[in-house]
This record gives sequence, C-alpha cells and structure tokens, in this order.
Amino acid sequence: MKVLLENIKELVQVEEYPVLFKAGSAMAEVTTIKNAYLIIRDEVIEDFGEMSHLKDAYVDDDILLEIDCSNRLVYPTYCDSHTHLVYPGSREKEFVDRIKGLSYEQIAERGGGILNSAKLLHETSEDELYKSAMERVSEMVQMGTGAVEIKSGYGLNTDDELKMLRVIRRIKNSSPICVRANFLGAHSIPLKFRDNVSKYVDSIINEMIPQVAAEELSDYIDVFCDKGFFSVADTERILMAGMKYGLRPKIHANELGHTGGVEVGVKYNALSVDHLEYIGENEIATLKNSETMPTVLPGAAFFLNMKLSPVRKMIDAGLPVALASDYNPGSSPSGNMNLISAMGCIKYNMLPEEVINATTINSAYAMGISDRLGSIARGKIASVFITSEIPGIEYLPYSYGSNLIETVIINGEVQNF
Ligand code: NIG
Ligand code: FE
Repeated sequence: MKVLLENIKELVQVEEYPVLFKAGSAMAEVTTIKNAYLIIRDEVIEDFGEMSHLKDAYVDDDILLEIDCSNRLVYPTYCDSHTHLVYPGSREKEFVDRIKGLSYEQIAERGGGILNSAKLLHETSEDELYKSAMERVSEMVQMGTGAVEIKSGYGLNTDDELKMLRVIRRIKNSSPICVRANFLGAHSIPLKFRDNVSKYVDSIINEMIPQVAAEELSDYIDVFCDKGFFSVADTERILMAGMKYGLRPKIHANELGHTGGVEVGVKYNALSVDHLEYIGENEIATLKNSETMPTVLPGAAFFLNMKLSPVRKMIDAGLPVALASDYNPGSSPSGNMNLISAMGCIKYNMLPEEVINATTINSAYAMGISDRLGSIARGKIASVFITSEIPGIEYLPYSYGSNLIETVIINGEVQNF
C-alpha cells in the first residue's frame, strides 16, 4: 500500500542524516519542511520533500491513498519509554489520602501503593489485565503514541511477575505499535520480606530472572533504586544477574533522594535512568560521556507534587533528556504525551523544539529503537500523526488541554478509533 500525505503545512522532525539522539544545544534544533509531502510505502517512510518537487518524481505512480494535510502539521508519533500500563485497577483512594496529607512514601510504608496493586493483580486474570491494558494502549495511540515500553512490577512473586510479562507479550503481539517489555521484579519489597530484603532479592535473581529469560519475556531489567525501596548494593546484584541473560538495565533512580541510582545505572551501562528529581553536579558529571539517557517523568512529579528535575541544568550541561509518561495507577494515571510535552515547556522551561526531541528521538533511544522510530527519515517505520488545523509547532504544548491530533498512522496504516 502506498500513501501520500500532501500539502502538509509543516513536516516536523525530519532527518536527512539520522542520529540516535540529540544532546545539549542540539536539542533546540528540529528540522521541518514547510508545504511538504510524505510518501509511505507499506510500513516504511519512502520519501518526503517540498510539494514543488513532488510532481517530478511521482507522476502517475501507484498511490492508493492520498491525504490532504492543508493547514495541518505532521509529526513522528511519540515514543513513550517508561510506563506501567498493565495494572489491575485504579488507586484514587490514595490520591485522596495524599490530598489529606499523607506522602507517597508513607502510603507505601503502610503497605499501600505498589503493594496494593500487587494484591489486586494476584486476583486478576491474564485476560482481564490484557483487556484493560489494551484499552489504555488504544487511548494512547489516539493521542499520538506509536511506541511504548511496559514494565512488570505489580506481581512481586514469580508467578505474578510472569503473568504480567505474558500480558505484555500479548500486547506486543496484538497491538500495531512497537512494544518493549521491562522486567521490574524489584519494584517494591513485599511485606513478608521487609525484614529480609536480601531474601527477596535472592528470589528475583535465582527464580524470576532465569524464568523470564527462558520464556524470552523481557527486553530490559529494571530496579526501583531509591530511599525506602532497593539499595545500590541490591541494585548491583539484580542488574548483574539480568545482564548475564542479556537484559539491558533501564532503572528508576533519584526520585526520592541522592541515592546513587544514577551512578549505578551508568556503571552498568543502563539504556536510561528515569525520574531524576534529585540531580546535582555529581550526577550530571556521571551522565556526561555515558551511553545512558536521562529520562524525566513530568506526570509523576506533577501528580505527586514533587520537586522538579533540573532539566534545564542537564541540557545546558550538554546532556540529552527524554520525557515519558510513567503511566501507572499510583503516581501518573495518564499516558497523554501531549500533556507531558506541555509540562516540559511550562514546568521545566524546555523549548517546544527540545520537547519534540525529548518525546521522539531521545525517548526512542531510551527504548533502543531510535534507528527505526522517533523521526521522519527515509527507511524508518511510518508511524506519524496529523494535527488539526494549527498555526505551528509551539501551538501543541501551548494549548495543553486540547486534543489536536486528528489522524494517526501506525506502520503505514491509518488507525480508526
Ligand atoms: O515510576 N517509582 C516507582 N514506580 C512507579 C509508581 C508505581 C505505583 O505507584 O504504582 C513510578 O512512579
Ligand atoms: Fe515508573
């Protein structure tokens, strides 16, 4: 199938010479083509350019579908590199507890929070988990997301972690978008192991990881390395065990303190370190010259009223930054990357161009897929969205409450909602 998008007011995030990510001052650069065309053949971006050049190359060709994009912008779909979107139920009671004054950590200490979801997940069937997760995925696609990383971590025992990962595999096999799985057995410490965390870590290393690997259920290994959760020493043991099976680390770090999470992530060549509310000169120096993508989750900081990650400092120091939704029932119950983009500008002082790079090419890197997705480049996967009639790229994060995405194309196919 060949598709032609024509009269595009502005084709955004174009790359003649694709890069794997953008760092520092390059994050403020986004190449666009005004009055453009885009040609898709099957699943792939075949060509693009200015409308004035279209006729020369494609007269009487075999175009099957023409879409007029007058007054509309076309973007590569968002890559959401950090989510927990397989979960058994919402947690709005804790939301009210926090309004009344309890902190996220206090709720977790009482056995609420993640443990609450784990209890409910144990009682929920694979089919039910799959169905609710697919509804979330479909809503995210409608809002412009074309790739998503999904973590386990509400199982916290071997059977339930495997159950979650099998659900993620089903989503991978049945959803049109690109899905990456991340094993997060070390998401929280089950109550019965609170006095003996090493014993739980042993079970992750000796039972869970070998089975996850045997069934090829995960692409990555994650640890919530933070105050009140897993220590740096626990994290090192778990990462080493996962890496033996080829699982690349992608970890939760520095959300609740300067806990050494960034350092341990970089030491084990993590693909990304995520959250990063507590980042100082040392963490920035560690991240410099590493292959690890610093990833910030504005939804969680907003929802939990946390201090904000020093994104400006990181970019000004020459680092790349990715943004992701952290979609989960406890700290960020939304997978809306348009809202995340708006928060990037409004709360973190990022330029619209920096936000585009952070939610496309850099977040694609944080999932290990930036050679295939995250920009408009010849040969990349044809997953793009078409906006409604808008004036320019600044307008998308500016009008933070509106849904301005009209059409979504995934792997070259127009999605119907
Ligand atoms: O990324 N920080 C740890 N894990 C999730 C929260 C999960 C939950 O509360 O259910 C996060 O914010
Ligand atoms: Fe998370």
